[in-house]
Amino acid sequence: MAEQPTTPQLTNRPRRLRRTPALRSMVRETQLRPEDFIYPLFVAHGQGVRHPISSMPGVAQLSVDQAVIEAERCAELGIKSVLLFGIPAHKDPVGLENFADDGIVQQATRAIKHALPEMVVVTDVCLCEYTDHGHCGILNAGNDTLPHPNMEEGYVLNDETLAILNDVAISHARAGADIIAPSGMMDGMVASLRVALDEYDFAHLPIMSYAVKYASSFYGPFREAADGAPKFGDRKTHQMDPANVREAMREAALDVEEGADFLMVKPALAYLDVIQRLRQEYAQLPIVAYNVSGEYSMVKAAAAQGWLDERSTALEILTGIKRAGADLIITYFAQDAAQWLRAA
Ligand code: PBG
Repeated sequence: MAEQPTTPQLTNRPRRLRRTPALRSMVRETQLRPEDFIYPLFVAHGQGVRHPISSMPGVAQLSVDQAVIEAERCAELGIKSVLLFGIPAHKDPVGLENFADDGIVQQATRAIKHALPEMVVVTDVCLCEYTDHGHCGILNAGNDTLPHPNMEEGYVLNDETLAILNDVAISHARAGADIIAPSGMMDGMVASLRVALDEYDFAHLPIMSYAVKYASSFYGPFREAADGAPKFGDRKTHQMDPANVREAMREAALDVEEGADFLMVKPALAYLDVIQRLRQEYAQLPIVAYNVSGEYSMVKAAAAQGWLDERSTALEILTGIKRAGADLIITYFAQDAAQWLRAA
């Protein structure tokens, strides 16, 4: 009689494929590449300005000349695209600089496209950085009577805001933007922008819609970076409730109908299920995830304490976002990650 083995006879041993780094890389299902990343830049007036954002270590408000330098670094690292946010010289109720020919985003777009014609310049189209009240649209407000007496005072007016967003998008397009990215969560935003762009002979420019944008606490550091916090109230009458996913599918469906070329989910980490759902439902469209400021700063803060390893944590997060179904990731880690991937 043969002796009984002390361990069970295992046919399936998944560990066989994890034994060496080479084997592990052969069976790796998700690959991060520098061209997966879009790097956000905060552009401000001035010359030679690099104003660090304390809540986002490693990120700064940059004057146009410095933004060009960062875009050049991106190009060297294999990153194909930057996303521009502007900090205007003056704020007012409408946000006039937002659609001015010499507005800060328009200047930065021209300068980056001049220095790096191949760089894909995406421009954020919203009102909150430009309005003195910090809201993403025109408010129902007036001295004596409200423009819409049946609506609450301070309500973000949808259709009035769409008209401004059209002007902003056209001025970005004229400056040379490659992709228009509306982030304000107004109803009918994509349809309205598509019509306006086409009318001004920009039918060739794609719209990257922030289709599913939640009213999230993870935007906290960004509001310092872009100086765009609402002076009162919040954004819950237009950004989505974090509890909802059916509504996310409705938002995405509308944007697809209206002609969106990319669908974005924002933030990323608490919404990986939403990314996955969109990926499955809209197999024909590129899905973008915004790994937002708070998601970045959490890692930075923990790493500064020595509680997490920054590099492996950041790469794990980016891999997770991609595995969930994102084709592209907007991330403040873009330059670092591209460098880490090169070194790996
Ligand atoms: C608004 C906008 C926000 C972000 C990008 N565009 C802030 C908000 O909606 O309040 C957040 C990005 C981030 O947190 O990194 N135009």
